Amino acid sequence: MSSPAETGVLPGHPFVHLRGQDLFAEEVSLAGLAAEHGTPLFVYSKAAMLAALAAYQRGFAGRDAQICYAMKANSSLGVLQVFAQAGCGFDIVSGGELDRVLAAGGTAAKVIFSGVGKTPREMRRALEVGIGCFNVESEAELHVLSRVAQELGVSAKVSIRVNPNVDPKTHPYISTGLKDNKFGVAHEETLRVYQLAASLHGLKVVGIDCHIGSQITQLTPYLDAMDRVLDLVDAIEAAGIALQHIDFGGGLGIDYQGDTPPAADALWAQLLAKIDARGHGGKKLMIEPGRSLVGNAGLCLTEVLYVKPGEQKNFCIVDAAMNDLPRPAMYQAFHRIVPVSAPSPLAPSARYDVVGPICESGDWIGRDRALQVQGGEVLAVLSAGAYCMSMSSNYNTRGRAAELLVDGAVVHVIRERESTADQMRQERLVRA
Ligand code: LLP
Repeated sequence: MSSPAETGVLPGHPFVHLRGQDLFAEEVSLAGLAAEHGTPLFVYSKAAMLAALAAYQRGFAGRDAQICYAMKANSSLGVLQVFAQAGCGFDIVSGGELDRVLAAGGTAAKVIFSGVGKTPREMRRALEVGIGCFNVESEAELHVLSRVAQELGVSAKVSIRVNPNVDPKTHPYISTGLKDNKFGVAHEETLRVYQLAASLHGLKVVGIDCHIGSQITQLTPYLDAMDRVLDLVDAIEAAGIALQHIDFGGGLGIDYQGDTPPAADALWAQLLAKIDARGHGGKKLMIEPGRSLVGNAGLCLTEVLYVKPGEQKNFCIVDAAMNDLPRPAMYQAFHRIVPVSAPSPLAPSARYDVVGPICESGDWIGRDRALQVQGGEVLAVLSAGAYCMSMSSNYNTRGRAAELLVDGAVVHVIRERESTADQMRQERLVRA
């Protein structure tokens, strides 16, 4: 395999490459996009999303499988549309996400509804449009779903989200399968909860679900979790409750900083071998990947506003901030930051903390980065396709950035830059 330097492809970003000294996403110059559309600006590669999806599709070739994109990673309509057109279902966690799926042309029957706090209103709407399955996370939720389904005179298909108590070896905020997490039903209680589900009116048990965490880069937690889930499948079926599908969640990591997660097809070759060996190869498989489908398909362009040398530190102040790119502030996350064009020879070379304009010390995007920059230059913050725009905010009354979808040489604006008027639309002055 050729190295990034030989191919000019950026690490982790197969569809971002150097032409001369200029960065391109697919066939489009990033400097050109920044000049035309302004910054901060999210740019997504359609080919990169489809390539990431293809790795899972290869892994499931010849199987009855449904890939449900976990849209919390990036819920912009233009992104959802790409996955809907490619045949994906969606993993949702709110009524709002369901509305987005339907607006983007997704199929309700391929939607699974996860999350610990579904409201009766959200359940009702999901049943009315006919979603595929509820991933139920507690006994109390089972009772409410049973009641709502009976009121509507329908049957709700359910999986129970089980908590396999496996350490995914990732950041504590994004571990979800450990005993002390709020998610899922404890391993020891699973059988009892399944028996309850099978006994309640208005519910039809169809599957089992688990999700152990996010940005997982090792194989072992997945293999361990699969063993524990298959133990439960055996126990549940031995109790006379048939399961049609196994939903194994999402969580596969991406390369942010030289991370080397297993490829989706290689991971699934191992997991499928386990499933087959335990005699469950005939079951339908479902997965809920988010980050691994979009994370490295996106980047954020930002302009350097000021370079501010200091005694202890140099700051490179850019026009993107923690409201656009919240992951560093929230998880001390690392995103590569690279210039989109050759630096001016006049620009000083130094180590910088790359920070945004927000009035918080936590508003940083990268720390101690070697850069040759000056005001006016454009930088690309990489691996920004997942959990950036979908977690963005209007803090400091900053409008949300614009978003572009690049498809070969064609550029689609999938989100206009948000104006202050947009932000104030729902607000009212008090009338005397
Ligand atoms: N399914 C369930 C039930 C989940 O809770 C999640 C993510 C996923 C699927 C998708 O996981 P993925 O394939 O994207 O790892 N904001 C954090 C990540 C939070 C993940 C929450 N759950 C971050 O920026 O790192």
